[in-house]
Amino acid sequence: MLDTVAAPRMAQGSPAVPASELRAVMAHYPTGVVVVTAMADGAPVGFVVGSFTSISLDPPLVGFFADQSSTTYPKVERAGAFCANVLSSDHSHLCRQFSSKSGDRFAGTTWRPAPSGSPILDEAVAWVDCDLHDTVVVGDHTLSVGRVRSLSLETHAAPLIFHRGAYVTGLHQSDEAR
Ligand SMILES: Cc1cc2nc3c(=O)[nH]c(=O)nc-3n(C[C@H](O)[C@H](O)[C@H](O)COP(=O)(O)O)c2cc1C
Repeated sequence: MLDTVAAPRMAQGSPAVPASELRAVMAHYPTGVVVVTAMADGAPVGFVVGSFTSISLDPPLVGFFADQSSTTYPKVERAGAFCANVLSSDHSHLCRQFSSKSGDRFAGTTWRPAPSGSPILDEAVAWVDCDLHDTVVVGDHTLSVGRVRSLSLETHAAPLIFHRGAYVTGLHQSDEAR
């Protein structure tokens, strides 16, 4: 048993749950790492999201949550299309590069245009190319919903997993859920 588990916090309207506490607890929920790319005025743009998820099969919709302070997301919205590039466990350096505030995020990468024109990173395990379908402001984030126009699985490499503020390596897969 963990000896540092906090007492349950009841939602009683106010005071609000502190952001630090929400962040600390949610850090225990693992996520994959995706680079969302788009073309902005002829130049490639991209940023890391851990909130990428499948939303609907019919119609085929996926989405992610963009922080309203993001400087890249407004360019994605203006492009009206994006490509979600799933990173592999070998590509934690790309996660750092595409979430860094300085430097050329595409330095050292090679990419090709998806049908929407958005960049497909050659390192991607899988990519999902979308037309922007809907956006919904939710709290301090924007839910960005994409309608899938094309997608591909490129390799069976293990995905990059982010958990408790670190990258998880040595992921073992069991068959039990199949
Ligand atoms: C593992 C990981 C997951 C992230 N997930 C998200 C996310 O879901 N949404 C988001 O807006 N930013 C997310 N970020 C933060 C952005 O990648 C980061 O803030 C980036 O610097 C945004 O820069 P920008 O101003 O160019 O948009 C994540 C960062 C990391 C390292």
